[in-house]
Amino acid sequence: MYTLTYESTAVKTLTSAEMESLLEKARTHNKSENITGCLIYYKGKFVQLLEGDKKKVQELYDRIVEDPRHKKVTLFSEDEIANRTFPNWGMAYYPMDDEHPNKYELEQFKRNLILLSDLIEPTNLTAKHFWIKTKTMIAEPPK
Ligand SMILES: Cc1cc2nc3c(=O)[nH]c(=O)nc-3n(C[C@H](O)[C@H](O)[C@H](O)COP(=O)(O)O)c2cc1C
Repeated sequence: MYTLTYESTAVKTLTSAEMESLLEKARTHNKSENITGCLIYYKGKFVQLLEGDKKKVQELYDRIVEDPRHKKVTLFSEDEIANRTFPNWGMAYYPMDDEHPNKYELEQFKRNLILLSDLIEPTNLTAKHFWIKTKTMIAEPPK
């Protein structure tokens, strides 16, 4: 098996409806291809980890790179793996965007995500890089 993680910048702020539709398609497709992973969306930036059969993951990544909804797609880690980090998630999603009504809720989301990253044991270097990138991203003060 194989895993990769990349970061990218949203071309425009996605509404929750647009995000829902993206996720619905992603989850259906990933399930049929036995691909799992996690997608973080925070302040116009994406970080995503994908895992599964190498050829299938690379094919999906090639498609994702071409997606006009984001730009500056940068792969920052990949690995051959024996076990999945997100075995039960077709695509886990953390919607930490500007739609959250107040600062308290946003802080709560950040805390939950950090908690999650502590609970989910990264079993490979790419998963470690994914969490480091995520934590760095949410630590940045809002612009
Ligand atoms: C940030 C981001 C993450 C995405 N993640 C996935 C994914 O995990 N699985 C998936 O099938 N499509 C994902 N997509 C959508 C694909 O880019 C593409 O639209 C989808 O696979 C349908 O491709 P098609 O129109 O060529 O059939 C993602 C798109 C973006 C912008």
